[in-house]
Amino acid sequence: MGKGFYISKTVGIVAVILGAGALAAIIALSVVYSQEKAKNNNNNNVLPTDGGTTLTPPVTPAPSSELWDKYRLPKSLVPHYYNVTLWPRLTADPATGLYIFTGQSTVEFECAEETDVILIHSNKLNYTRQNSHLATLTSVNPVVTAPSVKSSWLQNVTQYLVLQLDGKLAKGEMYILHTDFTGELADDLGGFYRSEYIEDGVKKVVATTQMQPTDARKAFPCFDEPAMKAVFYITLIHDSGTVALSNNEINFFSSPKENSGVKTVFHPTKKMSTYLLAFIVSDFSFISNTIDGVLIRIFARKPAIAAKQGEYALNITGPILKFFEKYYNSSYPLPKSDQIALPDFNAGAMENWGLITYRETALLYDEAFSSNSNKERIATIISHELAHMWFGNLVTLRWWNDLWLNEGFASYVEYLGAHEAEPDWNVKDLIVLSDIHRVFAVDALASSHPLSSKEEDIQKPAQISELFDAISYSKGASVLRMLSDFLTEDVFTMGLTTYLAEFAFGNAVYKDLWNHLQMAVNASDMQLPDTVHNIMNTWVLQMGFPVVTINTNTGSIAQQHFLLDPDSEGIPPSPFKYTWIVPIKWMKTGVEQTPQWLEKESSRISTKISGSDWLLANLNVVGYYRVNYDQGNWDRLLNCLSTSHQLIPVLNRAQLVDDAFNLARAKIIPTVLALNTTKYLNNERDYIPWQSSMNNLEFFYLMFDRSEVYGPMQDYLRKQVTPLFEYYKNMTGNWSKVPDGHMDQYNQVNAISLACRTGLEECQNLAKLWFNQWMETNKNHIHPNLRAIMYCNAIAAGGAEEWEFAWLQFKNASIATEAEKLRSAMACTKQPWLLNRYLEYTLDPNMIRKQDATSTIVYIANNVIGQSLAWDFVRAQWSYIFHQYGGGSFSFSNLINGVTKRFSTEFELQQLKQFKADNAQVGFGSGTLAVDQSIERTIANIKWVAENKENVLDWFKAETKSK
Ligand SMILES: *[C@@H]1O[C@H](CO)[C@@H](O)[C@H](O)[C@H]1NC(C)=O
Ligand SMILES: *[C@@H]1O[C@H](CO)[C@@H](O)[C@H](O)[C@H]1NC(C)=O
Ligand SMILES: *[C@@H]1O[C@H](CO)[C@@H](O)[C@H](O)[C@H]1NC(C)=O
Ligand SMILES: *[C@@H]1O[C@H](CO)[C@@H](O)[C@H](O)[C@H]1NC(C)=O
Ligand SMILES: [Zn+2]
Repeated sequence: MGKGFYISKTVGIVAVILGAGALAAIIALSVVYSQEKAKNNNNNNVLPTDGGTTLTPPVTPAPSSELWDKYRLPKSLVPHYYNVTLWPRLTADPATGLYIFTGQSTVEFECAEETDVILIHSNKLNYTRQNSHLATLTSVNPVVTAPSVKSSWLQNVTQYLVLQLDGKLAKGEMYILHTDFTGELADDLGGFYRSEYIEDGVKKVVATTQMQPTDARKAFPCFDEPAMKAVFYITLIHDSGTVALSNNEINFFSSPKENSGVKTVFHPTKKMSTYLLAFIVSDFSFISNTIDGVLIRIFARKPAIAAKQGEYALNITGPILKFFEKYYNSSYPLPKSDQIALPDFNAGAMENWGLITYRETALLYDEAFSSNSNKERIATIISHELAHMWFGNLVTLRWWNDLWLNEGFASYVEYLGAHEAEPDWNVKDLIVLSDIHRVFAVDALASSHPLSSKEEDIQKPAQISELFDAISYSKGASVLRMLSDFLTEDVFTMGLTTYLAEFAFGNAVYKDLWNHLQMAVNASDMQLPDTVHNIMNTWVLQMGFPVVTINTNTGSIAQQHFLLDPDSEGIPPSPFKYTWIVPIKWMKTGVEQTPQWLEKESSRISTKISGSDWLLANLNVVGYYRVNYDQGNWDRLLNCLSTSHQLIPVLNRAQLVDDAFNLARAKIIPTVLALNTTKYLNNERDYIPWQSSMNNLEFFYLMFDRSEVYGPMQDYLRKQVTPLFEYYKNMTGNWSKVPDGHMDQYNQVNAISLACRTGLEECQNLAKLWFNQWMETNKNHIHPNLRAIMYCNAIAAGGAEEWEFAWLQFKNASIATEAEKLRSAMACTKQPWLLNRYLEYTLDPNMIRKQDATSTIVYIANNVIGQSLAWDFVRAQWSYIFHQYGGGSFSFSNLINGVTKRFSTEFELQQLKQFKADNAQVGFGSGTLAVDQSIERTIANIKWVAENKENVLDWFKAETKSK
């Protein structure tokens, strides 16, 4: 799946507007993880509901020995092909009000081991066969008689259809299981589900699917494990005037007897996993082209296609596909590549083989409304999903415990594919901000976990779902980038190519990839300190990462497990005692040196550092570790930053800031040293170091924006950002055009964002002027890149009139990205009554869609004035919110973390504890651990503020007085 699955929309947008509440968001992620972990340890016998959230109290596990009580399929039956016909009804049944689908399916399977029980996955399906059993069994070989069914039932907890037979299936024989069934076409975003939207005042319904990880069994009975690959013959019945799509091309149409519609019969699929299936019925239209015989189509709502919103996606898909063919040295395995934008979609996108599904914001682009950030998201997410067409789909990991390799790989190479489509963007550099720094924050906590899990620890659907986290995606991407770097890209892709060739249409485990990379290493003349396997084990089998400490006085180099909270308890033991085999690339005073490896706890650097030399390690942040130095080397680095910062590569300038702030949080270096890394920013023009600084200063805003530190901090930051603001003002001819470069476009937004935030009047006036022009002329001339930030500032400066105008525009927006920008900006108002009314709107689905309710509350809490209002609101409405919005797995922890992330006083701590006690009866569902972690975080914040407030205040004062 695309990354949107674990990075909530909330986080993405708030990050753009406020310069990233990255840490809080990341803590929220780790909270979800550990909360799921805790839950699964408790509730061994509770059926997980959709999204992996269960509100049922723990029950004592019953002793279970029957096959159907186990979550994994026995190895006795192996499917060869399925024949599935599905008929979704796009109007509700007038009697029941339900949307349903009906289906028939047959599966032909081979008996690999004698058995008298058939288990096949099935969830929330009702069986309608006209005999006494739920399914019928026949034998393929006419001389073999199939045993008859003795009893059949649905084992709801483990999600099986169970058939007990009166005799054994014979080893080596083929059998066919026939079923007829009905399911609900619910709006629950999983399995076969419906998505609704309004077009020309008319409600329209789309039937679509999201199978990964375990919801194919909600669409038809199937052996729903990734290693149970089979061929699928798919038929869809639908009204004429609608289009049916599936993984493969259409074979033929026919007219069913049952209704006046059409039957679309698809060519059989390649041998594939169930989680990659897709079926869609809609009245969408499309645009297409053909590249080297591969048909490429982009589908979306008719008005979106008419407005050419699919054009950008179509333009870049061909080149990215060609890039991956070259990269993998393997031609695209399918005859067509469809991509479709859906109004309701849970993840960012899903890599169904040949029919990729997307959120509208992840596929549709409109020059008049989309920012460069929207555009980049489209390029990277398309690239991510296309990368899966080989890595994941052609060769599939055998079981979900290796999910990190599938998602980490796609999350790494998505940058390579996007770079091919947009070579001027330098998009590859952004992995440092978007993945490495982001996941460092999670992976530095005691509650982190290793990339690799044991197969036996991942059994239940909820355990599988919880693997779709920042560790799998972003740490996976980071360590694979490091691996590709020290192997060199040639060796890396060589191993990849032979791996894909060996396991095509089959399954593998992560060690198979290491073996192929080792073969490529052996065929080269490369020298590594150990095998690929042994080096990578240290990164894959233990959680966390090292801080490498280099003492330039003594030449010693050492490593230790980096923990954000040095007092963390409960760190699990590691097979490598938290040491890593670390590749170290470094430079001395601007000159790159021969790379070195750190294999044990400590070693020595190979070059002498003397006089004014400085040493900088982890060049271009290709290594997955932080670096600390002796004070003398820090001082020389700071000096270099302030005198000639360009001698230090741009990614390392971002690294110095991020490492310093985090080493300070971990009490390894003083906070003042971290603040000193921001002193050179008045000379910095590059985006990545600025963004890194703003991410780290966000914590200071949260801790101090209601205290006496705020004024001097604002003065300091305004002083630092003013030159940047002037720089972009000149570059853009007084804001009359946007900068050419992608990074410059981003940094222009940062310049405006921080200038306005720190009260630079010229900036705020600009926001008011542009927004008023829009209100007066009804023509919006604000460039899409600047809209989110300009709307926010204009609404903050304005009153009811501005707010009402934004609301009207929000309700009438013709593209999802524009509505998103307005929805977050409306939370920026400083009028408490408007904020309170907006909070009330979140409880009315006619005002704010359910899926957007909790993120809207969090936007309001991000506003320093909205903070306490949102907290009061959540406390007052907890019971209602809990019952209305209990379904989404991330929303509760995001909500609780979002409204409490500023907490840093004893009083707030007491309120939080009271909140926990008052609602013990109602409960906190998926937010349970978030409540406890918020209490922990508040205690840590109180401590941090007590220890740092004086110093920080003095530092900001001194920095603003001195000039
Ligand atoms: C699939 O089933 C339909 C009837 O449900 C049948 O007409 C068709 O021949 C079957 N196809 C295969 C490949 O078995
Ligand atoms: C499973 O659920 C169905 C429908 O809700 C019910 O009819 C059936 O009895 C349940 N099966 C078991 C074993 O509890
Ligand atoms: C399936 O059966 C259950 C129990 O009888 C019923 O509540 C549900 O509505 C049925 N679902 C469909 C889609 O018919
Ligand atoms: C797509 O490509 C065409 C042809 O190169 C170009 O004219 C058009 O502007 C591109 N559209 C987008 C949205 O990039
Ligand atoms: Zn993915």
